[in-house]
Amino acid sequence: MVFTGAGISTESGLSDFRGKDGIWTRRDKGLPPKKSKHFDEVEPNSAHLALVELQNMGIMKFLISQNVDNLHLKSGIKPEMLAELHGNYTLMKCLDCDSRFGRNEIGWNREVHGRGSRSESEALGQPVCKICQGRIISSVVNFNEPMPDKEVSISKEHSANCDLMLVIGSSLSVFPAAHLPKLAKQNGAKLIILNIDPTGLDSIADIKLGVKAGEFLSLVVNEIKRLLASPR
Ligand code: APR
Ligand code: ZN
Repeated sequence: MVFTGAGISTESGLSDFRGKDGIWTRRDKGLPPKKSKHFDEVEPNSAHLALVELQNMGIMKFLISQNVDNLHLKSGIKPEMLAELHGNYTLMKCLDCDSRFGRNEIGWNREVHGRGSRSESEALGQPVCKICQGRIISSVVNFNEPMPDKEVSISKEHSANCDLMLVIGSSLSVFPAAHLPKLAKQNGAKLIILNIDPTGLDSIADIKLGVKAGEFLSLVVNEIKRLLASPR
């Protein structure tokens, strides 16, 4: 299985948080974020597409992501193969029955109703859940807010039972998400970390690759295809 962070989306033109030019790295130096495209303007890159190939070959059994940029779903990852632990900027959710809706589908207008974060008070006349009339909020999980129960439990289940966990583009510095690769390792999985900078779990990784994800994963997929095509 695969666990991704903001680093898998930098080759699409988005900033990460703690990389050399990350949003928090620059903030800590008193610098504004680097000019980055908006989620609506970017496309999946070769790293995202490599994961779709691994999904379609039946090699990747499940994908956990901390990213809210929607690029895994946009690239062709099946919703049932994915847990977005920090939510998805295109999705709103019901606080009562946990149903998910696209912003347009539910009639959420950010100019009128605001961002819809859990901590904001309800906007007058904001859309309610189509299923149970419950309160609708953004699915994006902000710091100190709980991660979605369903996604957390299925991610723990897969992490505890996989034979290989591949981490791509995460500093593994935000918990509880970063516990999952450790859970996999503790349950006997091999741990491979593909990340340019050091991460919090490098010391327990079986293999650490400090390379760019897009180029490297394309090579990996081509090599797997070559091996699968050559007679045993
Ligand atoms: N290839 C490989 N690694 C890369 C690439 C790339 N093309 N680009 C960046 N990286 C690496 C960086 O070296 C960095 O260590 O990706 C890592 C991204 O780490 P973070 O910026 O900390 O992102 P992430 O781990 O996803 O952060 C977790 O923190 O701010 C919160 O909610 C936010 O979901 C986010 C969480
Ligand atoms: Zn509901």
